[in-house]
Amino acid sequence: MKKVVARANSNIALVKYWGKKDEEWFIPQNSSVSLTLDELYTVTGVEFNQNNCDQYILNGKLQSQKEHKKISEYIERYRKISGIYKYVNVSSENFVPTAAGLASSASGYAALALALSRLFGLSIDLKDVSKMARLGSGSASRSVYGGFVEWKKGDNHENSYAEKIDNADWGVAMIIAVVDSQKKEVSSREGMKKTVETSPYYESWVKNADEAVEKIKKYILERDFDKVGEITESSAMKMHATMLSANPPIIYFKPNSIKIIESVRDLRKEGISAYFTMDAGPNVKILCMEKDIDTIFSKLRKNFDGEIIVSKVGKDAEILEEIDD
Ligand code: PMV
Repeated sequence: MKKVVARANSNIALVKYWGKKDEEWFIPQNSSVSLTLDELYTVTGVEFNQNNCDQYILNGKLQSQKEHKKISEYIERYRKISGIYKYVNVSSENFVPTAAGLASSASGYAALALALSRLFGLSIDLKDVSKMARLGSGSASRSVYGGFVEWKKGDNHENSYAEKIDNADWGVAMIIAVVDSQKKEVSSREGMKKTVETSPYYESWVKNADEAVEKIKKYILERDFDKVGEITESSAMKMHATMLSANPPIIYFKPNSIKIIESVRDLRKEGISAYFTMDAGPNVKILCMEKDIDTIFSKLRKNFDGEIIVSKVGKDAEILEEIDD
């Protein structure tokens, strides 16, 4: 039986994706830019089975019916496109330093998309894999590439995909302060839908985000780290502002999130180039340079005793193993 194993790294958005134009095809309202991290990743193996259903194991555990339904619907897209109506065993391992509750859907769907594309004999050109990954989770479209990545919003399945901007191999890093490892109360899917529907500020978010993407790309290519950082912070806060203005408001901040944000601002006053960002949860991610990791780590440790993860830049998704017998 043919078996394929693939790996993809997680990514953290610097200019955020927040809101869909098309729910079924995961077409976003705005383009976004991210940094791929090598410390958080997923390895996924897929093989055809002889049964009449798909099987999904995550971190050694058979998943719930709800999770099976979701993954089966996703695999169904591959069956339809390829015309190969076979069921699949999926076995995934999420490599995060602990059960940190950090978003694994990006690396998860990127690894799965690459593995399934190979298994079903579809194109494994990363642009095509990006489009398929997008159909599992929007942010996964960016995880097929390493470095700094742009997800070009497009307006249909064929033109909504990610592209690499730069390898980010000039000493860029990210530090994650794990404020809360619980599963988030409001999923990003629900949260963005509510925001699009009810925030009076949503229209200006979209316009501003697309402008921010153009600016950050320029600064990335110029290696102007501080400008990249400023846009990163600003995009996160604008995204959270649209969430706060939704009805009912969506609040992901916890007291420790604010505490860490304050530490980052203090670090800047001390001359360290560090910039924070937050996603659909209370964890704070700090964009920084490798040379400043120790200083930032010690500063955070002074008033935060939770887990701190340090990550360098991750590479493109890849096929690790392919067995054909
Ligand atoms: O693709 P999702 O459903 O995991 O949504 C990602 C949303 C954010 O993490 C908040 C922003 C982003 O661009 O990754």
